[in-house]
Amino acid sequence: MMSNKTIALMGASGHLGALIAQELMAMPDVQLRLLVRPGSRAKVADLEARGAQVVEGDINSGDTAALSAFTEGAMTVISAVQGGPETIIEGQRAVLRAAREAGVRRFIPSTFSLDMFTVNPGQIVTADMRRHFAQIADDERGGVEVTHVMIGGFLDKDVLFGFIDVIDPKAKTARVWGEGESPMDYTTYADTARYTAAVAVDERPVPRVFAALGDSLNFADMVLAYEEASGTTLTVRRMGSLEDLDAQIAQLQEGGQANFLQYLPLMYYRAQLKGQGRLDPVMNDRYPHITPTTVRQYVQAEGL
Ligand SMILES: NC(=O)c1ccc[n+]([C@@H]2O[C@H](COP(=O)([O-])OP(=O)(O)OC[C@H]3O[C@@H](n4cnc5c(N)ncnc54)[C@H](OP(=O)(O)O)[C@@H]3O)[C@@H](O)[C@H]2O)c1
Repeated sequence: MMSNKTIALMGASGHLGALIAQELMAMPDVQLRLLVRPGSRAKVADLEARGAQVVEGDINSGDTAALSAFTEGAMTVISAVQGGPETIIEGQRAVLRAAREAGVRRFIPSTFSLDMFTVNPGQIVTADMRRHFAQIADDERGGVEVTHVMIGGFLDKDVLFGFIDVIDPKAKTARVWGEGESPMDYTTYADTARYTAAVAVDERPVPRVFAALGDSLNFADMVLAYEEASGTTLTVRRMGSLEDLDAQIAQLQEGGQANFLQYLPLMYYRAQLKGQGRLDPVMNDRYPHITPTTVRQYVQAEGL
């Protein structure tokens, strides 16, 4: 079979990137190329054995030769990297520049979040960083189409049922600040990977923001969906008002970077509880071959 689309992916040794790689490997007309840090090559051995090209490189290292080799001849560059400003802002900037030089058609940055463009500055520090990169990308993209894939939060035991801790399936609790009336947007890692791969190979122009959604439920409906799907009952913990949540985050931030992993999930949850960063418009119907997983389906499938 002829390979006629080269898709260049960085972050394939990570959680989301590995799933995006699987989606692209399953497409018969795609040649997958990976940028992998030298010490991480073993993590993509399976992909390499199945025909993925591997370029060794670190996007923070200033190794422009590696970034040229990575981007040369690619239709789309996908970033699924994770890290601080040196990676999300400066590292991705270096790759975008290489992509522009190479005449790449599309760049998908490592956004994969709620709609960061409608979250107020300072509300979520990691969204601030990604908005900063988006501004750089708008200024420097040249002829490259830059598309941010927005999916809300990950509908996953590590995120919705873990890091953000809306529901704790082990303790059988759910927690909320305020009334929890705003719908919250969630999409699984696997569906995010499917939509990202679909955007990557799309021959049509794709807008600057592509938003896809698995499920959107307010707090009460989230609890109901979990209870019905698991056949168990949750104890709802009412943690206070949204102002109390603001105060708790501010207090944790005063403790500095040491508290980062405590205040970051609260920042995401606060935005959702306040109805910030909602996905609108949702564009699932652009790729009707993808039927995303709902909260009920996920809870049932995972036996949470
Ligand atoms: N919306 C949500 O609920 C949510 C939740 C979690 C994550 N996310 C987003 O999803 C995206 C992917 O996250 P993830 O959890 O899949 O990340 P992850 O598992 O930590 O993987 C990160 C990947 O980036 C690579 N990487 C990091 N620095 C690099 C560098 N300097 N040069 C080249 N590669 C580098 C890592 O390579 P190594 O193997 O060498 O370390 C790894 O492959 C991020 O944008 C993250 O913010 C969203």
